[in-house]
Amino acid sequence: MRTTELEKHPDQKSNTRGQRSGRARAGVLRLPFGIELTWLQLVVHICCWLPLIVLVWEASHDLLSVNPIQDITFRTGRTALVILVLSLACTPANNVLGFKQALKLRRPLGLYGFMYAGLHFLIFSVLDYQLDWELIQQTIVEKRYVLVGFAALLLLLPLAITSSKGWMKRLGKNWRRLHALVYLAVPLAVIHFVWLVKADIRVPLQYGAVVALLLVLRIPRVRQFFSQLRFRLMPRRKPATTGRGAAPAVIAQGESTSRSG
Ligand code: HEM
Repeated sequence: MRTTELEKHPDQKSNTRGQRSGRARAGVLRLPFGIELTWLQLVVHICCWLPLIVLVWEASHDLLSVNPIQDITFRTGRTALVILVLSLACTPANNVLGFKQALKLRRPLGLYGFMYAGLHFLIFSVLDYQLDWELIQQTIVEKRYVLVGFAALLLLLPLAITSSKGWMKRLGKNWRRLHALVYLAVPLAVIHFVWLVKADIRVPLQYGAVVALLLVLRIPRVRQFFSQLRFRLMPRRKPATTGRGAAPAVIAQGESTSRSG
């Protein structure tokens, strides 16, 4: 089968001169160590590090609440969930709104989400349970919210490990199948949140509603409906026959017909 633009990993760099100059035109920032980022990617990286920097700063200046361990657990958990939900929103942002740049944010957002979830677990097991593995195991088994949180983290682990381009190549079609686990992991994280809240479950339910909507937007018929609606509402560009200008037409067709992820 022919490899279309769509089947490429969004982070895959192109090697042709035309495409490289296209990237420069699109405002790619060249940073030290050969790192190339768009402004949006840079903002996302900064925003994802910020909660951790603020947390460390507050912890080192004694600015946390009277229950600092719970404070850190809550904040790392909430940040993980927000970032994971944002990573789920990237594909619908492209399919529904035509915001193509969002596709390049999926991988960093997924990895940051995993990083915060890992920190969250680390705080739980090191600071809260002082690495008492027997007690940790017992809590995981006994408390249903801890069990589903742990399941969500375990599901995210292989995704984080295999998120690189090398693994993507190695796994071929199975990469997509494996990474579909995120559709299970994020809802489990929401259930974890719903179950751990004792009184007012409105906030966790709001997260649940957003995740449900994002998953519904991935259903092929729904996605196709919104893609078609977008093309009807947006003024059509003249399809370019040669060069880089032809790419959007290819992507547009693929979005409404052949995409599965
Ligand atoms: C993807 C993985 C996970 C996500 C997204 C997540 C998310 C959250 C969220 C949103 C909260 C509530 C924060 C708030 O109320 O502001 C929370 C609390 C908590 N989570 Fe997680 N969590 C995850 C995995 C885990 C794991 C693996 C454990 C432990 C094995 C765990 C243990 C806890 C505990 C103990 C609390 C605090 C409960 C309390 O004191 O009432 N979580 N988590």
